[in-house]
Amino acid sequence: MINNVQIIETSEFTNNLTRDELISILEDNSCNEVLYKAADRVRKKYMGDEVHLRGLIEFSNICKRNCMYCGLRSENKNIKRYRLMPDEIIELARKGTEYGYKTFVLQSGEDEFYTVEKMKYIISSIKKMNVAVTISIGEKSFEEYKAYREVGADRYLIRIETTDKNLYDTMDPKMSHENRKNCLRDLKTLGYEVGSGSLVGLPNQTIESMADDILFFKEIGADMIGIGPFIPNGDTPLKNAKGGEFDLSLKVMALTRILLKDINIPATTAMETLNKNGRVIALQSGANVVMPNITEGEYRKLYALYPGKICVNDTPSHCRGCITGKITSIGRFVSKTKGYRDKSKNVLT
Ligand code: 5AD
Ligand code: SF4
Ligand code: FES
Repeated sequence: MINNVQIIETSEFTNNLTRDELISILEDNSCNEVLYKAADRVRKKYMGDEVHLRGLIEFSNICKRNCMYCGLRSENKNIKRYRLMPDEIIELARKGTEYGYKTFVLQSGEDEFYTVEKMKYIISSIKKMNVAVTISIGEKSFEEYKAYREVGADRYLIRIETTDKNLYDTMDPKMSHENRKNCLRDLKTLGYEVGSGSLVGLPNQTIESMADDILFFKEIGADMIGIGPFIPNGDTPLKNAKGGEFDLSLKVMALTRILLKDINIPATTAMETLNKNGRVIALQSGANVVMPNITEGEYRKLYALYPGKICVNDTPSHCRGCITGKITSIGRFVSKTKGYRDKSKNVLT
């Protein structure tokens, strides 16, 4: 009988696994190290040793949605809300260029204060700095996505969270799974580099659905995939839930690397909340991107998706040095390019 170790070792070269194989590997913890090492080799073969840094700006923690797992949900009254003005956001990016960032991720809750006009102003101003811009502000219409793209937005992140429709419907009340998939399709049509991803360990989430998540990432032709454990937040209805496990999250990530060999995969912050060496371990198990926080002051703490978030008391400059040290300590190096998936776009200008 073929065992999971052999299946993993073959998949390293075929970049293919069936749903049943994915499930079998996810259920079998005796092959974890083999899986991480195989994913690391696939990463090295297709992406090399460079690590792309994306400077993350968390510009508003105001959100009209009510996701059961998230501390920014509108019904959470225990959180002090903030919103940065367009010129403050642009200034954070400008400072980020001084630290050497070539890409910025602009992330917020779904906050209607930021009209299309405001977003266009922010994006076009930051694009003048000769950097790549990623937007992560939730579900918008095709016309809105088009408007951001026309002023230069390069990438868009919107996690599917889970491909299990019933689970999604209970976790994300009043939201439509169908619409979320349409958003991903619209973004692809508009020529964005499209990022998605999932949570691992939501209550009642099955291993089968995690296998489906990985296959879904392949099916939509994702350019980036971020995977992180679900961490229960005391200010949400899921405060007493068990939460996701580090190793299972890492396995979903490593399997994603094996199947989607040349995409960008971040070592997520949530991984490091569960394991103090989480991002380095992720970088050695298939990941090739890190998104250090470049938000300043108390806003870092207030962007409280989940508890135990790292770096909340640190400065952008400290984080930059810290992460560079971690990357070089494992024989890797910080990329000098904008890190497009299409490498022909990575010309230095
Ligand atoms: N634990 C881990 N990740 C979370 N997110 C939201 N709440 C939590 C939580 N409690 C993630 C979601 C969202 C991203 C911005 O943060 O996957 O897409
Ligand atoms: Fe809002 Fe995103 Fe949190 Fe849902 S996960 S409540 S959409 S910030
Ligand atoms: Fe922020 Fe290490 S990356 S302190």
